[in-house]
Amino acid sequence: MDDGSVHDLFRRAAEHAARFRDTISDRRQRPQVYYLGSLEAFREPLPENGTSGGEVIDDLAVKAEPGLHAMTGPRFFGWVIGGSHPVGVAADWMTSAWGQNAGNHHATPAAAAAEAVAAGWLLDLLDLPRESSVGFATGATLANFVCLAAARGAVLRRVGWDAEAQGLFGAPPVTVLIGDDAHATVFSALQFLGFGHDRVLRLKTDGMGRISTSDFTETAAKISGPAIVILQAGQINTGGFDDFAALIPIARRIGAWVHVDGAFGLWARACPQKRALASEADTADSWATDGHKWLQTPYDCGYAIIRDADAHRRAMTIAASYLPPSHEGERDPSHFVPELSRRARGFATWAMIRHLGRKGIAAMVDRHCRIARAMAERLGGEQGIAVLNQVVLNQFMLRFGSGRPDEEADRLTQQTVERLQADGVCFAGGATWRGRKVMRISVISWLTDDREGEIAADAIIAAWRAIGGSGTDPETARLRDPGSAIDIFTHRLATRDDLPALSALIEAAISELQKPFLNAAEIESSRTCMGLDTRLIDDGTYFVVEQDGAIAGCGGWSRRATLYGGDCSPGRNDALLDPATDPARVRAMYTHPDFTRRGIGRLVLSLCEAAARAEGFSRVELMATMAGEPLYRACGFEPLEQLFDDRGGAAVPLLRMTKALQTTDTQIEEENTCHR
Ligand SMILES: Cc1ncc(COP(=O)(O)O)c(C=O)c1O
Repeated sequence: MDDGSVHDLFRRAAEHAARFRDTISDRRQRPQVYYLGSLEAFREPLPENGTSGGEVIDDLAVKAEPGLHAMTGPRFFGWVIGGSHPVGVAADWMTSAWGQNAGNHHATPAAAAAEAVAAGWLLDLLDLPRESSVGFATGATLANFVCLAAARGAVLRRVGWDAEAQGLFGAPPVTVLIGDDAHATVFSALQFLGFGHDRVLRLKTDGMGRISTSDFTETAAKISGPAIVILQAGQINTGGFDDFAALIPIARRIGAWVHVDGAFGLWARACPQKRALASEADTADSWATDGHKWLQTPYDCGYAIIRDADAHRRAMTIAASYLPPSHEGERDPSHFVPELSRRARGFATWAMIRHLGRKGIAAMVDRHCRIARAMAERLGGEQGIAVLNQVVLNQFMLRFGSGRPDEEADRLTQQTVERLQADGVCFAGGATWRGRKVMRISVISWLTDDREGEIAADAIIAAWRAIGGSGTDPETARLRDPGSAIDIFTHRLATRDDLPALSALIEAAISELQKPFLNAAEIESSRTCMGLDTRLIDDGTYFVVEQDGAIAGCGGWSRRATLYGGDCSPGRNDALLDPATDPARVRAMYTHPDFTRRGIGRLVLSLCEAAARAEGFSRVELMATMAGEPLYRACGFEPLEQLFDDRGGAAVPLLRMTKALQTTDTQIEEENTCHR
């Protein structure tokens, strides 16, 4: 490849990336296709011959983009995800283009120097002991691992055991104390280090996930020998901070190494308005934090910071005769992390700190915390929505259906999360807190401002109202209550004599039941892609559900290729599907508006699935309207692909969904037998 084509290729990649980022605020804050859809896009036989670079990059963009999450968007509040700031991304591109293997400073002086300087800046920003060493790891998971490896070596060394040389066989036992609400990845780090994630003393926590000082005091009093205490700055759900001022002195009394997991919360120390939350955290021995969260570097970037630099180096140093030795005062990046060959993470960190500066970082952290508080206040004022934690930082949890029985509020919360994600205005995920379902919000993208916070709060309230949660729709819970009305309905296969009644029912369903989801133009347009395909009646695969002789609902399945559309829709395809490889279709599901939420949809689906399974199909697929989507999700369908059908004028949102058909008990039994 000559220089010209390198230029073209890089420019092409930059154009794809810039286009993606330019539209990030306006696009749906969730992938347009889900995993199975993405698999379908990428799956192809191993290529025997090569393809030009430009074509590969174009193809990558086409295949990947529908399955990309708008994690860099301004209304993405899932997990705890920084926004991959463009300056960090640009620095990271150059890092890739330069192709430096940043293990040691002889090989890559610039990478090692940028990392050394960025390490010093980090200590300054976070105001941690300036003599500490910093390892640039893939994220807080690995940073926790590195810090705890150093802790393990140091506490065992104090009792005369060289863990780096001798390992753990025969070593004196080490007691590890950790809060019950520590992040899952810290337990993983303990697992990797041979401590076992269950062989630890778990300390009680309060409603914010903070370690109980009295439980810690009592537990610590019973401990002798080497010990490690793991504290937390920023609980993943509540943003809560352990009481460092109270806990660290107790840990010191028992001679424990104190580690702080501050993946995002440690950045409170860089913000004058929030610093008090973590003011005593600097008296610990080690700290793990992330660049790819609040510093907004691209993935992957975390920092393992350790007061005792020798303990750090001892735990991580890789020595080999072919590697150049480092001398007094020289710092090799690989001495502070487990990898030898590694990405030059220092460049993006250096670039982001240089770009934002101390003041910019402080202002951003403060802004996110203000937005979180404002959103929580607004949402907490809405009937039926409860904010479950004090909003001390940027994290909060919501519960929907507060005041209703626990199981019902669980259902409503889950439905609101699903509805919000389906709407796509903003993204928030669900979690379980104290055994109950919650929605989690993490405000942490550099793009999020006050206005975006308001739009997101509106979207959350709209999702809550749309599922009928705000008190007007007591039938909602029945949606997930299998069989609640099945007994009083009868069903049979439809005949052509039913056509007049079916047309009336379908017309009523299209015009009435879509009103909460579509505007008048979209409902009108939807008539082109909806309705009954009489082929289903002729095939004997269309059911009607009746009460006292009146048709209350209908729906069917098909062994033919058409996925959706009525007699009036163009482009139908009668080709027969192959049950061995194709999914059967679920088609034309309608419930009369007088009979919604009474189990009719579930009944028809179960009839369709049973019939398709009996013909040998192992999967079904359907095209969901927005009105139908909650039912299908509740019945186990997963999204494959979002699309908009504008053949009737206005674009009608549709979601292609799929579901694996359960094998019968007998088949499961047989499979188990074969595996034994
Ligand atoms: C408190 C805490 N610790 C550790 C981690 C793990 O960080 P990473 O996913 O960057 O490895 C997270 C991630 O959200 C976290 O919130």
